[in-house]
Amino acid sequence: MTNKDVGEYRGRTLRRLRRPRVLLAATGAVAAAALAFVMVPNANAAASTLGAAAAQSGRYFGTAIAAGRLNDGTYTTVAGREFNMVTAENEMKPDATEPQRGQFNFNGGDQIYTWATQRGMKVRGHTLAWHSQQPAWFQSLSGSSLRQAMIDHINGVMAHYKGKLPYWDVVNEAFAENGTRRASNLQSTGNDWIEVAFKTARNADPSAKLCYNDYNIENWSYAKTQGVYSMVKDFKSRGVPIDCVGLQTHFTGGSSLPSNFQTTLSSFAALGVDVALTEADVTNASTSQYSGLTTACMNVPRCVGITVWGVRDSDSWRSSESPLLFDGSGNKKAAYTSVLNALNAAPPTSPTPTTASPTVSPTTSPTTSPSTSPSSSPPPTGGTGVILGSQSGRCIDVPNSSHNNGTRVQLYDCHGQTNQTWTYTASKQLTVYGNMCLDAAGSANGAAVQIYSCNGQANQQWNLNSNGTITGVQSGRCLDVWSTSNGAQVQLYSCSGQANQQFRLTAR
Ligand code: G3I
Repeated sequence: MTNKDVGEYRGRTLRRLRRPRVLLAATGAVAAAALAFVMVPNANAAASTLGAAAAQSGRYFGTAIAAGRLNDGTYTTVAGREFNMVTAENEMKPDATEPQRGQFNFNGGDQIYTWATQRGMKVRGHTLAWHSQQPAWFQSLSGSSLRQAMIDHINGVMAHYKGKLPYWDVVNEAFAENGTRRASNLQSTGNDWIEVAFKTARNADPSAKLCYNDYNIENWSYAKTQGVYSMVKDFKSRGVPIDCVGLQTHFTGGSSLPSNFQTTLSSFAALGVDVALTEADVTNASTSQYSGLTTACMNVPRCVGITVWGVRDSDSWRSSESPLLFDGSGNKKAAYTSVLNALNAAPPTSPTPTTASPTVSPTTSPTTSPSTSPSSSPPPTGGTGVILGSQSGRCIDVPNSSHNNGTRVQLYDCHGQTNQTWTYTASKQLTVYGNMCLDAAGSANGAAVQIYSCNGQANQQWNLNSNGTITGVQSGRCLDVWSTSNGAQVQLYSCSGQANQQFRLTAR
């Protein structure tokens, strides 16, 4: 992206709107709890870090991380404290991951992945198909061999990170400023290259949410925004798998926050995709622009999070514009406070309306509930049924009806067969097949949730809470899933109030 590209933005003040926030728990006919509209109480009204403040509304706050800076103590201290999502700035791009054809190198990407996940952070994948930062061998190809190389690259990289990354930027920056496709070697392989990339990615890792990512698509009335919007609308209408749109939000190089940014976010979201601000930075870190872009995201339920493109000004690709939230010494800037305040001002939940599973739910139509009302449902005390994820509308499922100890459970379309039928016992076990238990294979963030022969230990005991979460008695952590897709694995994670931790035992 060039300064000229970025300079085509138009800047105005962001209009702030508030909407009622709804979390629809769509369920079957039995438990009263399962029919409730659940609002998760805001436990921390004024969180003191960006990640914690964003988590209060079910969102993340991330940063780009460069592997080469992970030995800088100030950098890692600030990043480790403030953020709960990480994007590899360059290390997961094609030139880094497949420097020679068929020879993959994940050293830098893995370094960042390990650093982040050891600190309980998640990692966004960036990026698989892009006109820039291609390895030399890739640039020497054309036509069908280039198309095949793109497919092989997506398969190779996604296989390595399969099940580990909640989001992938599958295609990056494929549009020109006038709203038509950007001329590139990938575009020369045929106009269908983008949908081929997304279909390949879906097959390679069904658990990852698949994003289209671009810059200069923040202004709703801009031609490029409309070009991308038309593509996403077309993909959704034809069933091409796309789950999210990343708006890079580079308000640098002469560009600034457009007044209609929230309209853009909500318009994309209305197509049925998540939206995210993926590479935010702002010339001289304008406090009004930073708070405005943050509030725009907070006002759109499907805006799942914000990532800034670097930690300190000195780490930025545009360091001369001092565009980030921390100065070169790692001190918080005024823009930091404006973002933190905007995050803390957001309503407490990020309610994604749920889609009920057809076999379990006679279900309801969406309704709003007051943004301050917590669930008043009593915790279930027993019973047999499916465990329904509110966000996904999918059920906790034992893959292939396995009876093997250690089989990890997953989300899957609800069908209510024995491998999705759980009984909550008086001793707090969740049993399946009569003699096997839902079992935590550890108590740390990310610990696998599996089936195991019932043994009466605390890692097989669960609390079904009135706020719609299920917590492990031993760990105190919540059942959690980082995707709504079939096959998404269930894990333990610190309870965050997010919709992906809402599960209910729904009797059949
Ligand atoms: O690592 C080499 C170093 O060994 C060498 O000495 C030096 C000489 O120029 O280059 C270094 O690599 C640079 C790399 O960043 C790491 O610092 C590349 O030249 C430089 O081109 C590369 O720039 C990256 C840029 O993408 C490339 O397009 C930026 O760091 C990175 O922030 C930027 O990120 C992009 C997003 O992926 C997509 N959206 C726009 C965004 C900003 O341009």
